[in-house]
Amino acid sequence: MNRDSEVFKDLESILIDEATLQQRIQELGQQIGQDYKGKLPVVIGILKGSSIFLADLVKAIPIHLTLDFMGISSYGGGTHSTGVVKITKDLEETIEGRHVIIAEDIIDTGLTLNYLLKTLKQRNPASLTICTLLNKQARRILEVEDVGYKGFEIDDHFVVGYGLDYMQKFRNLPCIGVLKPSVYQKF
Ligand code: IMP
Repeated sequence: MNRDSEVFKDLESILIDEATLQQRIQELGQQIGQDYKGKLPVVIGILKGSSIFLADLVKAIPIHLTLDFMGISSYGGGTHSTGVVKITKDLEETIEGRHVIIAEDIIDTGLTLNYLLKTLKQRNPASLTICTLLNKQARRILEVEDVGYKGFEIDDHFVVGYGLDYMQKFRNLPCIGVLKPSVYQKF
């Protein structure tokens, strides 16, 4: 989509543009490819936020891998964490003995991933690491261990785009941006 679209018009600013995202994702993919050579990792996408990132990330990883998805919800739909984490869809394959890479859109309070890591570690994977596109360190409530790969550190903004939503919208933006304050009244 181009910048005249109604989706772009709701942005106050672009935090990370498309080219910058793509370049960093290529680097992450190359790094993962080197680190997991010969290991057949399973890359787990956390729905729905990581879906766009996951699609580009796996295309940048130059080794064999498998894919699986998990649905988790931690937000009631707005901009604040409720601390309530619910599995809405479980994995289809067993991860016992597998090298697991969790692809996540953003780590904010850390509540979601702490819950998820606890659950997945009980299933005895050979190894488990997280690859997050964004990290909002300033808002951490519970530190998250096992973050092997980080795309970008961002300040304490509520961001949308590239999979990240506000009220389920803006996931289709090709960049990461900050919304105009008026949008919060509109939707
Ligand atoms: P945490 O449990 O607070 O770390 O939040 C993790 C989840 O909250 C992410 O996977 C996102 O779905 C959502 N989230 C956190 N920060 C943002 C944001 O700035 N924009 C959109 N969604 C966010």
